[in-house]
Amino acid sequence: MPRLYLCMGPHCRSRGATDVYAALEQALWQAGLVGKVECITSGCQDRCQRGPNLLVQPGGRRWHRLTPHQISALVALLSDTGV
Ligand code: FES
Repeated sequence: MPRLYLCMGPHCRSRGATDVYAALEQALWQAGLVGKVECITSGCQDRCQRGPNLLVQPGGRRWHRLTPHQISALVALLSDTGV
């Protein structure tokens, strides 16, 4: 199952990762991807200056400076590409 690791380290949290996580869960639900894509919070991903950060596995694709407004487009892109 594809996994999305959203950083919840202190820098990413201070830059809005909690709101990004809520938007991500909602977007996955709306896209019918609950149970098909796992969203996991992680510790610091060592890219603090570019947070909030998201890592997609498998594949290792990274997303930086995420905002809640970008999440629907991100989930649609992941869905279109088979995640
Ligand atoms: S706190 Fe998120 S990358 Fe360091």
